[in-house]
Amino acid sequence: MARTIGILSAGGDSPGLNAAIRAVGKAAQRAYSMEVLGFKDGFVGLMQNRFDHLDSDDLSGILTRGGTILGTSRARVDQMDMGDGKKVDGRKAMQEVIEQHSLEALVCLGGDGTVRNALRLADVGVPVLTLPKTIDNDVAGTDVTFGFDTAMTIATEAIDRLHSTAHSHHRIMVVELMGNDVGWLALGAGLAGGADVILIPEIPYDIEAVASSITARKAAGSSFSIVAVAEGAISKEAAAIRDSMISQMETGDESERKAIKKRLKEFGQARTGGTVQLASTLAGLTGLESRITILGHVQRGGTPSPADRLLATRLGTACVDYIAEGTHGVLVAARGETTEAVPLKKIAGVTKSVPLDHPWVRTARHLGIALGD
Ligand code: F6P
Repeated sequence: MARTIGILSAGGDSPGLNAAIRAVGKAAQRAYSMEVLGFKDGFVGLMQNRFDHLDSDDLSGILTRGGTILGTSRARVDQMDMGDGKKVDGRKAMQEVIEQHSLEALVCLGGDGTVRNALRLADVGVPVLTLPKTIDNDVAGTDVTFGFDTAMTIATEAIDRLHSTAHSHHRIMVVELMGNDVGWLALGAGLAGGADVILIPEIPYDIEAVASSITARKAAGSSFSIVAVAEGAISKEAAAIRDSMISQMETGDESERKAIKKRLKEFGQARTGGTVQLASTLAGLTGLESRITILGHVQRGGTPSPADRLLATRLGTACVDYIAEGTHGVLVAARGETTEAVPLKKIAGVTKSVPLDHPWVRTARHLGIALGD
């Protein structure tokens, strides 16, 4: 009987997904004569047994394509939404699909949510491996995720373009970048694009300090400023409220915890609202006009950069080697120019934030870029 593996993409899409699907598929077929089943729309399609046999035609011509040919969705494998307001544990159904096809392994392309889902599946005996994809670069255990480089390139180009118009009009240009709860994208693109202020979630900002840095630039003859703000950036005041909610949650009873969790979720959703507020407060404090650009999903669209294609391709082929040697329950991580199989147990639930002593942070400080603290 032919050896068969399954593959799916889960969570938000990301440039490089098709490159990874192609690499896993081609390596499985060419190096190990394995058949490859591509499950549709993430874990939802796995549970519903919706798949395509991926043959060489399906895997051809997709290296440079954005998005994912398999489709994707956000879901928790142990709390699958049935569309009638009910949630069910989908793992038994998924396991049955895997057994029905005698899958030797299931490859899940995803971010930190997918790592958690993969571990939930591994806990019930599914031979699962994940590849790190996300524009946020927040997956623990790997040097970098595919999608990040492309998103950083798109964001940098946007900042470059904002420079000339900011300069012409003597304005503050506030540009909001994605990144979820971490600041890799804003910091990377902010540095590469020469932003004057970079605000990231890891460093809660003091609005007065941000305004002073812009006023100081104006006094020194630069009457415009580019402010790169991560969608998860937060003021010192808001961070204090959030932190006190978190500590209340730790001590509260079940119903208090539930209520606080809901408030924390709403708090997290106030992202773009926070950026709008930031831009208008800075205009008020500095006397300069401000304008806002929300880059949003533009950062996730289109063709992957060469670096992301290469990363997704080498992780994908390495993944098949791990499968062939019987390794599973791991993230296939990038480690320098090579790869490492990192146990899912070690990284599930861990978010890779920007360390405060990271070289990029130090670089920004040496350049006099205001980080808001
Ligand atoms: O995780 C990737 C990401 O693009 C985040 O940067 C962003 O916060 C989120 O997904 C947006 O999710 P959605 O596409 O579901 O709106």
